[in-house]
Amino acid sequence: MSYGAFEKVHAAAEDRYERLAYRRAGKSGLDLPALSFGLWQKFGADYSYEVQREIVLHAFDLGISHFDNADRYGPPHRAAQQLFGRVLAKDLAPYRDELILSTKAGNPIGPSPYLRGGSRKSLLTSLEHSLRDLGTDYVDIFYSHRPDPTTPLEETVGALVSAVQQGKALYVGVSNYSPEQTRDAAELLRGAGVPLLVHQPRYSIFDRRPEQDGLLKLAAEDGFGLVVYSPLAQGLLTDKYLDGIPADARARNSQFLSPDVIDDTYRLRAAALNRIAEERGQSLAQLALQWVLRQPQVTSALIGASSTRQLDHNVRALDFPPLLPEELAMIDEHGVHGTGWKP
Ligand SMILES: NC(=O)c1ccc[n+]([C@@H]2O[C@H](COP(=O)([O-])OP(=O)(O)OC[C@H]3O[C@@H](n4cnc5c(N)ncnc54)[C@H](OP(=O)(O)O)[C@@H]3O)[C@@H](O)[C@H]2O)c1
Repeated sequence: MSYGAFEKVHAAAEDRYERLAYRRAGKSGLDLPALSFGLWQKFGADYSYEVQREIVLHAFDLGISHFDNADRYGPPHRAAQQLFGRVLAKDLAPYRDELILSTKAGNPIGPSPYLRGGSRKSLLTSLEHSLRDLGTDYVDIFYSHRPDPTTPLEETVGALVSAVQQGKALYVGVSNYSPEQTRDAAELLRGAGVPLLVHQPRYSIFDRRPEQDGLLKLAAEDGFGLVVYSPLAQGLLTDKYLDGIPADARARNSQFLSPDVIDDTYRLRAAALNRIAEERGQSLAQLALQWVLRQPQVTSALIGASSTRQLDHNVRALDFPPLLPEELAMIDEHGVHGTGWKP
């Protein structure tokens, strides 16, 4: 299906709920699609509106009803949300009730002290900007994007609670918080009658921190879900870098993925993981997504994509048989924590 510039308002695919499983977010009442879509990279003012629109609409057609944003995403900051707002106004407004829109605040987006950090002023100002950019009265999930040790946690949590009480967010989440910070935030939120819905950590075959630091365990005990970001390690857990770095790949054009990390050690491990995937009749990308989703605490794998082809491919990750213990052991051997990171 094409979504060219002069085409009519998009009519969503009728079979959009037949492709993807939905999973319950912790002990809440909210189900999220097993794959969510984020607009961190290749969305914003520098990219073709038509391509961005096509990817967003294709995701929705595949059943990916959860779109993850942040005031910071661009370039420039706020541009990804403004792009999404344009698509929402033109094409997705009739489906607003079917969408889960997330945004985050607290990462720096400007020189002002009120455009950074976890203060009440910063978080609630950012939320106002996000609602304006997205063109919606409320977001479904409002996150504290990262912990701010210079601000009392009570103040940050209080701003999240206010967002819900003001009807500007339905649920709240935290991202990049340590298990200890998460436990404290969850307790404060519970006390205010606004339970923590989800935590958004980085988790992939090459980033084992949530297994090692106890976050997965805490999620099970505390009853919040995990929406895990960069499950493909920004593309390193696909076959695209096995024979070099393609010209249009993120490692060529993003400040967040340096070509330096694509070294012999990386290639050996990725090639070994690729062979495990091939033995199972799937691609490395599909294996990597299935791998994070094997954890019951993981509500959704939060992916990016630079084409509709990648989305079509990745959505099939859920069609394969569960990973066997011996396959998981082989993945552990080659999926070394820290692979693909800059020193
Ligand atoms: N909370 C936080 O602090 C935080 C931080 C980072 C991200 N996030 C969220 O997580 C979302 C996803 O992060 P991410 O983009 O790093 O996730 P990812 O799924 O690990 O990486 C996505 C990238 O991998 C490549 N790719 C995807 N499918 C592919 C396939 N089948 N074959 C080959 N290449 C493929 C594409 O890059 P190219 O084609 O461009 O190479 C794509 O943009 C973000 O958009 C954001 O919403 C949150």
